[in-house]
Amino acid sequence: MEMDINVRRYVGGYPRSREEAENRYIGRCGLYPHFSPAGAPIPGEAALGLYIAHPYWGRGFATEAGQAFIDFGFNELGIHRIVTTVMEGNDASLHVLQKLGFATVSIEPGARTFHHLVLHAPAQNK
Ligand SMILES: CC(C)(COP(=O)(O)OP(=O)(O)OC[C@H]1O[C@@H](n2cnc3c(N)ncnc32)[C@H](O)[C@@H]1OP(=O)(O)O)[C@@H](O)C(=O)NCCC(=O)NCCS
Repeated sequence: MEMDINVRRYVGGYPRSREEAENRYIGRCGLYPHFSPAGAPIPGEAALGLYIAHPYWGRGFATEAGQAFIDFGFNELGIHRIVTTVMEGNDASLHVLQKLGFATVSIEPGARTFHHLVLHAPAQNK
């Protein structure tokens, strides 16, 4: 009902998801500093993090939130490169990141193997 434009049309406000209307915390997503091996933030770069609570998986929230932060980073913050790291086996996360345009640039083997992914700003933003 909260999302239904036909309901909202005559009562004011704007269409909202049920989660927003009920002020539920369903996860977090954001851009964080990307630190060099020496521990300093790398100018023009950021790291993307995505966490969605299990009951809300598979509804497109990570894709939507991830895209919003990518757009914000490239268009508002002037970032030119976004990185992220995914543990091998986290296929849903890899799939979301690939849909968002990230490419795996290296694989770090170990007791836990990690994929390092990168997304570059579109040419017109550089
Ligand atoms: C990974 C995570 C962020 C995805 O969140 P989400 O809101 O469920 O993601 P979305 O609904 O936007 O998209 C999920 C996609 O993965 C796909 N998917 C689900 N399980 C999959 C699997 N085992 N293998 C491949 N793809 C899978 C879905 O089909 C969907 O793709 P589609 O839209 O093309 O059909 C969420 O599962 C999560 O928070 N996991 C725990 C924390 C985590 O791993 N964070 C990422 C750290 S890098």
